[in-house]
Amino acid sequence: MSDVHVIDHPLVQHKLTLMRRKEVSTAEFRRLVREVSLLMAYEVLRDLPMDSIEIETPLEKMQAPILAGKKLCFVSILRAGNGILDGMLDLVPSARVGHIGLYRDPATLVPVEYYIKLPDDIAARQVVVVDPMLATGHSAAAAVARLKQAGAQKIKFVCLLTAPEGIKVFQEEHPDVPVYTASVDRQLNDHGYICPGLGDAGDRIYGTK
Ligand code: URA
Repeated sequence: MSDVHVIDHPLVQHKLTLMRRKEVSTAEFRRLVREVSLLMAYEVLRDLPMDSIEIETPLEKMQAPILAGKKLCFVSILRAGNGILDGMLDLVPSARVGHIGLYRDPATLVPVEYYIKLPDDIAARQVVVVDPMLATGHSAAAAVARLKQAGAQKIKFVCLLTAPEGIKVFQEEHPDVPVYTASVDRQLNDHGYICPGLGDAGDRIYGTK
C-alpha cells in the first residue's frame, strides 16, 4: 500500500459516514458524493504546478500565482464515476473530461470496453481517474491501462472507498499511479462488494434499486 493516500480530513470523514447509512435518500446520497468529491479534489490537486503572472489590483501591480501549463483532465469510469466528476467539476470547471465505459464479460470476467471518449491532448494533461469504489481493482486497472495506451502519462486514481484486495490488484499493474481514497475498508465479500462499504454506488447515486 505504498502510494495510497487516505484523505482523513474531518469533513470528508463525516460526510462519508452520513453516506454509508442505508437509510440515506437518493437525493441526499447524490449531494454528499458531490460534496465529498469536491473536498477530495482539493487534496488530490494540492501539488498542481504553479506559474506567476503580473496582474493589477485596484491599488497596484503585483506578481500573483496562477496554475501552470495545460489544464486537468478528469476521466470518469461509467456510470458511478459521474457522481464524483460532478463534485470535481464544481471545483475545477475548466477541466477537460473523458469517459470510459467497461463491463465485465460474464464468461471470462475480463473487463470489456464499450465506450471511450478522451481529449486528443491527454498526453499533456494531468489525468485524474474517478470511480467511487475500487473493489476488485480489475475495472480500474483496465481503465488506466487504456489511458496509458491513449498516451496519458501523469495519472492519479480517486475513489471514495477501497479494500486491500483491490489496492493489491491495482498497484501490481500500475505501481506508478497513486490512489486517493477516503477509506480503506475491511474486505470484499463473495460478490465483490466492499465491506462495510456503502452498497452499490451507482444504484445509490441514481436511485436505480
Ligand atoms: N461497486 C459498488 O458500487 N460497490 C461495491 O461495494 C463494490 C463495487
